[in-house]
Amino acid sequence: MATGIVRRAVSRVSLSPASMMMGIRAHASEVQAQQVEPTARDTSSFKTFQIYRWNPESPSKPQLQEYKINLKECGPMVLDALIKIKNEIDPSLTFRRSCREGICGSCAMNIDGCNGLACLTKIPSGTDSTVTPLPHMFVIKDLVVDMTNFYNQYKSIEPWLKRKTSPPVPGKEIPQSKKDRAKLDGMYECILCACCSTSCPSYWWNPESYLGPAALLHANRWISDSRDEYTEERLEAINDEFKLYRCHTILNCARACPKGLNPGKQIQHIKKLELGVGKA
Ligand code: SF4
Ligand code: SF4
Ligand code: FES
Repeated sequence: MATGIVRRAVSRVSLSPASMMMGIRAHASEVQAQQVEPTARDTSSFKTFQIYRWNPESPSKPQLQEYKINLKECGPMVLDALIKIKNEIDPSLTFRRSCREGICGSCAMNIDGCNGLACLTKIPSGTDSTVTPLPHMFVIKDLVVDMTNFYNQYKSIEPWLKRKTSPPVPGKEIPQSKKDRAKLDGMYECILCACCSTSCPSYWWNPESYLGPAALLHANRWISDSRDEYTEERLEAINDEFKLYRCHTILNCARACPKGLNPGKQIQHIKKLELGVGKA
């Protein structure tokens, strides 16, 4: 409705100075109309989201469903748009989220072709955006993927402190120098969102046998921890053609990580240790 008024105003501008005045008046009256009738606003604030839908209880194939929302009535992030759609248009839309501030890692998905956290990704400019589940993962429903394999791979690297000796003071924490603690920077921040692993072509082709960037980043986090006494065993456990050496340093992982981490660099560090060059 408002678009129609704008179009008519523009066509008058192109005719003559007199009609230009009419056009300006028409535009002015439109502004007044917007002031008194907030719902009749221009359509540039509307955006269409194409969202992947699949329900295991329905026999139909997956499809992209269109939802149009007014961005003026929505928060700035993709997660805000998804919550608005779920609350106001379609309560059956299913996705994971919890913290809304990039901490829990549960809202990872693919937005316009790039993996990211919906709560940290601003709604892209433009009239259309496509939101799909993390690539190459089994879908449970809509944007929710099955993370079982990913978590099992994480578990397989034994992500906890392992000691052969007792702590210096029994029952107390094991001290670590500031320098040794700094070696964990760039790894401890990982929130296990899987944006990196599901953007890695090697992981796409070998998801069961290649550990993927997230699990390997965590392997390196424990290999590099000065308090851990199983460094050699940890290196031995992943010194495998598939578990480790499927990484070809393509570095999609670093590009995808919403926390700014570089799993490819950590994998390089492990490979150097396996070769006996570099320090844990
Ligand atoms: S650097 Fe390795 S882990 Fe990262 S995307 Fe490339 S192949 Fe995958
Ligand atoms: S390294 Fe980054 S992208 Fe990968 S799981 Fe951790 S936080 Fe997510
Ligand atoms: S909701 Fe927790 S990271 Fe997005």
